[in-house]
Amino acid sequence: MSNHLEQETKKRRTFAIISHPDAGKTTITEQFLLFSGAIREAGTVKAKGKKSKKFAKSDWMEIEKQRGISVTSSVMQVDYDGFQVNILDTPGHEDFSEDTYRTLMAVDAAVMVVDSGKGIEPQTKRLFEVVSHRGIPVFTFMNKLDRDGREPLDLVDELEEVLGIDAYPMNWPMGMGKNLLGLYDLYNERVELRNTDDDEDSHYLPLNEDGEVEGDHAFKDSTIYTQAMEDAQLLHEAGNEFDLEAIKNGKLTPVFFGSALTGFGVQTFFDAFVDLAPAPSAMEDENELEIEPTDEQFTGFIFKIQANMNPAHRDRIAFIRIVSGEFEKGINVTLERTGKTLRLAHTTQFMADSREEVEHAYGGDIIGLYDTGNLQIGDTIYSGKRKVKFPDLPQFTPELFMRVAPKNVMKQKSFHKGMEQLIQEGAIQLYKTYHTEEYIIGAVGHLQFEVFQYRLLHEYNAEVDMTPMGSKIARWIKPEDLNPNMSSSRNLLVRDRFDRPVFLFENTFAENWFKDKYPDVELESLL
Ligand code: G4P
Repeated sequence: MSNHLEQETKKRRTFAIISHPDAGKTTITEQFLLFSGAIREAGTVKAKGKKSKKFAKSDWMEIEKQRGISVTSSVMQVDYDGFQVNILDTPGHEDFSEDTYRTLMAVDAAVMVVDSGKGIEPQTKRLFEVVSHRGIPVFTFMNKLDRDGREPLDLVDELEEVLGIDAYPMNWPMGMGKNLLGLYDLYNERVELRNTDDDEDSHYLPLNEDGEVEGDHAFKDSTIYTQAMEDAQLLHEAGNEFDLEAIKNGKLTPVFFGSALTGFGVQTFFDAFVDLAPAPSAMEDENELEIEPTDEQFTGFIFKIQANMNPAHRDRIAFIRIVSGEFEKGINVTLERTGKTLRLAHTTQFMADSREEVEHAYGGDIIGLYDTGNLQIGDTIYSGKRKVKFPDLPQFTPELFMRVAPKNVMKQKSFHKGMEQLIQEGAIQLYKTYHTEEYIIGAVGHLQFEVFQYRLLHEYNAEVDMTPMGSKIARWIKPEDLNPNMSSSRNLLVRDRFDRPVFLFENTFAENWFKDKYPDVELESLL
């Protein structure tokens, strides 16, 4: 273990933001960039994703323009207070796909942004489930405190109940909306006032042993202050205890209140986040070998492949999460799946305002590798002689389905070849009906279908007919449980590419009907 590697790794924080669309993910990301000096103006991240002229020459930006996918902001590395913070984007809205989930396999922590007017929304819950499966820490930011939202106690209760995780309020709002006075902050033992000039002394007021602000302040007479103080103190006495171990294992989420838009409470949140979130930790390979980030051997795995949708350029970017060692431009690595040597010469790192060639990178960092089709999602790469293979990435239960068939029967061959490769690559999931052998593809977001169709046409010259089947609940059963009577008008029986039987139910009603009828048959979902 070298000192240099230890120092570099220790200051890395790699995380993703999980939230429902419109909760404020973009706004809080921007605040991170602002605080770290990576951008000077708010509004930059969004503008870039949608309509920047600056990168007009880049093919990648072409895709972004066409599709509104923000490739440039896929990964951002910023320097915050001496920490190298890697923010991995988890696209929502229309560009939601399995890549969104896979990205969560490459982070060491998650920030959960909740709209305090709305509470826990469906996409947040789904993303939380994926994160929670990994047992990594989740830091909650209750956003939009500058608006009248729901009662803080109500929000925290709902969070615990709906997500099944304990919560620990790190600070407590003193009012909200127009009446927002500030934050009563027991963790930092201070009150953080909202409306003050830039003078730090009047912004943060220390609490004494009784949890009171000393001295004469007009706000001390308000019920908002006394109420917040009482609530917070009660929570600390009767609620969950602060337990760093539980936070690190994802059993307890620290909850911060604030407003991303006005920047209030944001720095308090970031400071605690870099302080409490873990640095990259060891990862076990398939042979239960612990790979420490400080190991000299360079290792990493591919968690996402972004295909270029410009027909003139078939190159793609494979996103690699570095697990150990030091990446140096031009190093040779082995691609574990094929045993072939690759020279990592054309790599890119993602900054807020540019893409730069990477010279050095360490455990926790993400690098992008230009690829012409050699790499697959889940691949391990390593330097040196010791063979390393990280466990396969999990598969996720698709929610949307389409029937597909080649448009031109003369082009069956290219259709099958394209299907096979895209499925191997993890771009989409394939199912077949039992007797008729119809092809059904499954995805978690619509974008996957579009990319699939586009790539089949442009990379394999195969045009397809796609017929939407809408959303279904996919449940796997054990092959020995299968009996022909189970198939009915309320479900569709298919098999996945490993020949495992899967029922596609129309809705929970149909699923429950099946459960009632076959109580001994276990229905399973993927992650
Ligand atoms: P997202 O990436 O999670 O989808 O959300 P985003 O940050 O784009 O925020 C969604 C909307 O919520 C934006 O308004 C944004 O300005 C607003 N917002 C974010 N944080 C706060 C906050 O702390 N307080 C208040 N009051 N609003 C907040 P918009 O009008 O939909 O978009 P825009 O046109 O202003 O960009």
